[in-house]
Amino acid sequence: MNDFELTRTLDEHAAERALREDVLHGLTRFPKVLPPKWFYDARGSELFEEITRLPEYYPTRAEREILLERAQEIAAVTGARTLVELGSGSSEKTRHLIEALPALEAYVPVDVSESALTGAAHALLAEHPRLRVHALLADFTKPLLLPDTPAPRLVVFLGGTIGNLLPPERAVFLKAVRAMLSPGDALLMGTDLVKEGSVLVAAYDDAQGVTAEFNRNVLAVIDRELDADFRPADFDHVAVWNREEEWIEMRLRARSELAVKIRALDLVVPFEAGEEILTEVSAKFRRQGVQEELAAAGLELAQWWTDAAGRFALSLSVAGGSGREAPAEASGRVSGAA
Ligand code: SAH
Ligand code: AVI
Repeated sequence: MNDFELTRTLDEHAAERALREDVLHGLTRFPKVLPPKWFYDARGSELFEEITRLPEYYPTRAEREILLERAQEIAAVTGARTLVELGSGSSEKTRHLIEALPALEAYVPVDVSESALTGAAHALLAEHPRLRVHALLADFTKPLLLPDTPAPRLVVFLGGTIGNLLPPERAVFLKAVRAMLSPGDALLMGTDLVKEGSVLVAAYDDAQGVTAEFNRNVLAVIDRELDADFRPADFDHVAVWNREEEWIEMRLRARSELAVKIRALDLVVPFEAGEEILTEVSAKFRRQGVQEELAAAGLELAQWWTDAAGRFALSLSVAGGSGREAPAEASGRVSGAA
């Protein structure tokens, strides 16, 4: 590839150490829990892409609709020369932004999935041979050292992945993102919105069972990486709408009493029949909540755009300060939060 660089801030050993710690901590407490980032080995990344094409899984289509409608406006307001994407995955929707940003020189996708990063870079460079792609294999919840690329930067966090963090994690994360921004840089964030529980449950428990396979994939990752003997088929996929917390919970429920060996940890994990592991929360938002969480991190909501059906939102915040001025014709839109 012409202008592609991959920086591994997570070498194999660091990633394995992190997995060991998360599995030891998460499976020896009650209720059992595993962080969702471990879904995304090469197979998990593939399964997520399949999810995005399911009839029940509306967030990807809704977010694409907003991006297509607002890409020119985002380009005018931000004038971005660098696009940083956290949890970039296949970068599929991002291409609409890349195509709309006339001053763009560098794209910095950040992900824990190396297969997703290299696959996305190949596809993008085939279409945009003059773009510099500097991928970071990194955990976006840890301090990030971004490459030295031209300002202004537009940081994007799409797909509603912010909802996979718990509220205290979101607060820490958003402050870290704010610290990454210089005056005139911007944050574009996708959030799925609160809606009818039945629509949400269907999106996370599809008829073809792709989400069930995605959920069980975390057990296959632990088997391979930590020499464990989970049999993914021993667990049922469960998706529940938690009305109080306004988030979907994905869980894996043991079909019978089990004792699972995790040899790399010298551990046997007992399960009672029906016992569950919480593998993911996917929070759904309201405008007020997003605005408050951004404000708590020192970010002002400048624009709030939804798809026509009001299922999903994109919010744009521009970092204040004495830096680059927004283009005159566009700056009015930024200050006028709709
Ligand atoms: N942004 C894309 C992909 C969303 S899937 C979209 O909107 O379709 C979530 C992506 O975030 C996956 O590619 C996964 O590998 C990545 N990811 C999840 N947790 C992460 C973490 N802690 N650090 C970095 N990447 C993470
Ligand atoms: C990546 N993230 C926003 C997805 C979501 O909708 O929470 C992950 C996912 N889990 C099940 N289906 C999709």
